[in-house]
Amino acid sequence: MRICCGLRITAPDAKCKLFSSNYQVALRYYVSSCRAVLLPRFGGPEVLQVRSNVEVPDLKPKEVLVRARAVSINPLDTRMRSGYGRSIFEPLLPLILGRDISGEVVALGSSVKSLSIGQEVFGALHPTAVRGTYTDYAILSEDEVTPKPMSLTHVEASAVPFAALTAWRALKSTARISEGQRILVVGGGGAVGFSAIQIAVATGCHVATTCGTESIERILAAGAQQAVDYVNEEVELTIKGKFDAVLDTIGVAETERMGVNFLKRGGYYMTLQGEAASLADRYGLTLGLPAATAVLLKKQIQYRYSRGIEYSWTYMRADLDGLIEIRNLCEGGKMNIPVDKTFPITQVREAHEAKDKKIITGKVVLEFD
Ligand SMILES: NC(=O)c1ccc[n+]([C@@H]2O[C@H](COP(=O)([O-])OP(=O)(O)OC[C@H]3O[C@@H](n4cnc5c(N)ncnc54)[C@H](OP(=O)(O)O)[C@@H]3O)[C@@H](O)[C@H]2O)c1
Repeated sequence: MRICCGLRITAPDAKCKLFSSNYQVALRYYVSSCRAVLLPRFGGPEVLQVRSNVEVPDLKPKEVLVRARAVSINPLDTRMRSGYGRSIFEPLLPLILGRDISGEVVALGSSVKSLSIGQEVFGALHPTAVRGTYTDYAILSEDEVTPKPMSLTHVEASAVPFAALTAWRALKSTARISEGQRILVVGGGGAVGFSAIQIAVATGCHVATTCGTESIERILAAGAQQAVDYVNEEVELTIKGKFDAVLDTIGVAETERMGVNFLKRGGYYMTLQGEAASLADRYGLTLGLPAATAVLLKKQIQYRYSRGIEYSWTYMRADLDGLIEIRNLCEGGKMNIPVDKTFPITQVREAHEAKDKKIITGKVVLEFD
């Protein structure tokens, strides 16, 4: 074992290769251990532990090792910490939380062709990844990262991928939105909702949304035609006409009823609050997943026959083409997610507490030194 760049590196002959160009010498290495935030059990922010010497597994052929510069906090992180998805994750504890990342590539799996060492990248892990991004060195597959938008800092870039890919999948893969359509985003003030608005506007759609008072100006500036304050206005009276697609980021009974009522025949209702994980947590995987399938199918059939609309639970999924389009939107000034506050990674508990207690409602990013 030897120490290099402050990292513990083992088996240097097997894992390190030195290579040079005319102007630089780069050290290509695999890191064997590093700092990470571990979740040893479910609970409040106090269960999170910043540990050094957490093992970094060897890369599989299509994986890349990314040195984290910034990772953002998504609602999934705080929910997972509290036990959401325990039917899947409990046997896999301790976990590393975190989906989003912006950083630099430091090592490549043997078959990775599209990325190079030293490249600045951003991306997101899929929702069920066990080794997340709250670590100095995160492992993602080649199709989960792409070069970071040059116009964004690492902090800004880390706020985008998970939320924007969730919106992308709903609007582009499920509803296949196109120019001229009318799209309603329920909850346009949040990261997924605001991403959806920007994707729909860039597609040439007419967008209406519900949001808090403080989000209205930002949403209209992003190109939405109507932003209705869900606290102070009568949403159902203020929004007029029917829509081709509704993305419901809130997904409670009331917003579902409203969203469905606003759809044209042939339209798509998509909720982010699918019940697969919660039913699996309640009844166990063996009973919960078939129960979730039954609930989903019942609603799909009911809505198709009663109203002629398509109903779906939508989930984030890695999509390299989508991520590249999202990067292009960022580069073109058509996509951003405002960052409310940053914390150093060592203050991850304070950051989670601020989200749990809704002291900070906007995006929070954890920075690495
Ligand atoms: N299924 C998936 O794969 C997936 C992926 C990502 C996220 N999600 C889920 O989707 C939800 C949103 O995620 P996010 O990252 O966008 O969260 P976020 O950035 O924290 O956004 C939440 C926003 O919702 C708005 N809001 C709350 N109640 C509302 C209401 N009744 N009507 C309209 N807007 C309301 C608030 O906006 P204002 O500030 O304007 O009041 C708040 O900022 C979370 O529950 C998350 O767990 C699911």
